[in-house]
Amino acid sequence: MAARIDHLVTSGTFALDGGEWDVDNNVWLVGDDTEAVVIDAAHDAAAIEAVLAGRRLRAIICTHAHNDHIDAAPALADATGAPILLHPDDLPLWRQTHPDRTPDGELADGQEITVAGTTLTVLHTPGHAPGAVCLYAPELAAVFTGDTLFQGGPGATGRSFSSFPVIVDSIRDRLLTLDPATAVRTGHGDSTTIGAEAPHLDEWIARGH
Ligand SMILES: [Fe+2]
Repeated sequence: MAARIDHLVTSGTFALDGGEWDVDNNVWLVGDDTEAVVIDAAHDAAAIEAVLAGRRLRAIICTHAHNDHIDAAPALADATGAPILLHPDDLPLWRQTHPDRTPDGELADGQEITVAGTTLTVLHTPGHAPGAVCLYAPELAAVFTGDTLFQGGPGATGRSFSSFPVIVDSIRDRLLTLDPATAVRTGHGDSTTIGAEAPHLDEWIARGH
């Protein structure tokens, strides 16, 4: 049985630099009827467990450590026994949300995570956050981009720990080089494709966000 992608949207708050914003987050599960991984345990562990529906959770993969993407990770880990995986460059952000709990394992560029017979390759794509990663699943023709690439442009880089020149390099060198037919499954909002976004890189650079 081939791996499939499940999706839910959860709601909560994003907090950074003293501000708070209401947000809806995309939570992605890749798996089959037996096992799955979760990409970004946002806001609501019980809702994610409902989609998991008793399947073995192999890992909780964090695209980055902004609180809205990791706030439910410890509760989901406690409920399932799954390890939380984060790129170590985002540990300073992680500690702002979970000072008493560290992730269980590290994500590294080029690392491969296999679930339900399909492979997710970790792409380190700093810029929105220093430890931001994307997960590329060529067999599913999909890349999970967190807050690095959205429909319409790069993720926000106006707050602490972010850099616009760095995210542009990540998007240009690591994402826009993927097959144009690749579906872009984002951290917030609608999906897009690499081919739909690639022609707009120069516009994003010119506007500066
Ligand atoms: Fe973010």
